[in-house]
Amino acid sequence: MTQTLIDDFGRRVSYVRLSVTDRCDFRCVYCMSEEMTFLPRAQVLTLEEISLVAEAFTELGVEKIRLTGGEPLVRRNIDNLVSTIGALPGLKDFAMTTNGAGLRRHAESLRQGGLKRLNVSLDSLDPERFRRLTRTGDLSKVIDGIHAAQDAGFERIKLNAVVLKGRNDDEVLDLVEFSRQQGLDISFIEEMPLGDVSDHSRAETYCSSDDVMALIEKRHVLTPTAETTPGPSRYYRMVDSDIRVGFISPHSHNFCSSCNRVRVTVEGRLLLCLGNEHSVDLRAVLRRYPGDKERLKQSIIEAMHLKPEKHHFTTDGDIQVVRFMNMTGG
Ligand code: GTP
Ligand code: 5AD
Ligand code: SF4
Repeated sequence: MTQTLIDDFGRRVSYVRLSVTDRCDFRCVYCMSEEMTFLPRAQVLTLEEISLVAEAFTELGVEKIRLTGGEPLVRRNIDNLVSTIGALPGLKDFAMTTNGAGLRRHAESLRQGGLKRLNVSLDSLDPERFRRLTRTGDLSKVIDGIHAAQDAGFERIKLNAVVLKGRNDDEVLDLVEFSRQQGLDISFIEEMPLGDVSDHSRAETYCSSDDVMALIEKRHVLTPTAETTPGPSRYYRMVDSDIRVGFISPHSHNFCSSCNRVRVTVEGRLLLCLGNEHSVDLRAVLRRYPGDKERLKQSIIEAMHLKPEKHHFTTDGDIQVVRFMNMTGG
């Protein structure tokens, strides 16, 4: 009989987000501080350890895995990891969240390896502003990467735009237009208070999903889709386009009651919620009992009791979680 993971609030965990590196070639202002130091290699799970974690989860009924970072495509041999995980039986959905800059190089092999979906972060269509928001990013490389992914046959690519008041909220309609033209879904995200990013005051840049929606509704009628996604995004459609417009609103529309996911950080910490520190050290298990999948599964099953009912993010600018997003896995 297939086992399943159920937490103390009756929620079934069927989705795991695996962070494969804390490194990134960008330094987005809401994600990292300017001077980040990265983890020494010994602290980071090896690709074999990550594969074993993925296998253990799928044997516990997990049907969806998303690879995140940092930037997954800067991890050496990421293509091999993708094909190993892509071949796991029981996996119905396999996705990656990327900044897109490495897609020209990797899209084809990711597709061959069984990756099904891609989310690409894109907060601005203005090259200079894009550079300011990402501190190092080259917009043309990202757009070229999106095209490479389309050429490789990826369907339903989704853009993620974190909206910051006064920084990129004037581009919401342009981003929607771009998505319509390119046939991409797009999600607008409220910034979450992870890590002291020191670049801006989060209380001042907070832009609610309702504000973003009001901007879009100046030009388009948004109709809620019938689908109920057990996750953060609420999706809408427009009459004259196939694309979906999503809103991820950890502040204004809490979605914890239907949460179906857990995360594994690049250090092998199984985090039960993005907004709390409850975790179990899977790396310790992996290194104490190398290759022992049954022990790993037991630790994962026991960890379910630690999943909290909800996060406690606020918009008052306080840092509620000291971990940076790149350490957390989005
Ligand atoms: P799916 O995996 O298909 O549901 O896509 P997604 O949009 O959740 O994934 P993506 O990696 O693109 O993340 C988009 C945004 O949603 C990021 O800012 C994530 O941090 C945020 N997010 C994803 N899962 C959660 C969650 O469980 N809680 C909170 N608060 N935010 C989340
Ligand atoms: N709040 C909300 N979203 C964030 N991301 C990174 N940092 C934050 C934050 N503090 C987004 C990125 C990427 C996804 C994984 O998480 O834009 O699309
Ligand atoms: Fe890198 Fe993504 Fe963080 Fe930007 S949001 S610095 S692209 S990990």
